Amino acid sequence: MKAIVYTSKAGHTERYARMLSKSTGLPAYSLAEARSVLPKGEEIFYMGWVMAGTISGIRQAAKWYQVRGVAACGAYAPDPEATRQMRVNCGVAEDVGLFYLQGGIDYKKLHGLNRWMLLYMSKMMGEKLEAKPQRTAAEEEMLRTLKEGGDFVLAKNLNEIEGWMKARQANEL
Ligand SMILES: Cc1cc2nc3c(=O)[nH]c(=O)nc-3n(C[C@H](O)[C@H](O)[C@H](O)COP(=O)(O)O)c2cc1C
Repeated sequence: MKAIVYTSKAGHTERYARMLSKSTGLPAYSLAEARSVLPKGEEIFYMGWVMAGTISGIRQAAKWYQVRGVAACGAYAPDPEATRQMRVNCGVAEDVGLFYLQGGIDYKKLHGLNRWMLLYMSKMMGEKLEAKPQRTAAEEEMLRTLKEGGDFVLAKNLNEIEGWMKARQANEL
């Protein structure tokens, strides 16, 4: 793979992309930037923020580049079933590595329709959680995040992707 290409609205995915760039030595470009510096057809690792169960920008990225691996960065805690569904929703082939990274919610960095949509989704999900007679610690944390925002970007969340990249590189040698 030649580069990491990302799409980010509130900065979580961009921060993950920069951390992954540092640990792997691959350059990281936003999708808009990449179009002018990275030739069409290059092999990339794509990172996009999750929007209503889909990975933003992935279809545009796949039109220009050979996407070999994908990371979806969303607000919710990792859920393998939701990630599998994202693969289907976004037409990510089975031989392309797909990973989920928990980003967070930063209402201050969102505007217009995106902010409105996320507030609406958070309200719906929050009401569902509040209606539960008992909540786990993780559910309490999610409820707080939905109301106030929260940041879950951690370097250790990239361990699985870094391991996958290393193994892939070793196979190519
Ligand atoms: C319109 C909208 C829809 C979203 N839908 C989802 C979703 O379906 N699942 C999820 O986990 N997060 C969802 N989120 C939350 C973002 O994916 C999350 O805040 C992520 O960290 C944003 O990454 P960014 O900071 O790089 O933009 C949504 C956010 C917005 C604004």
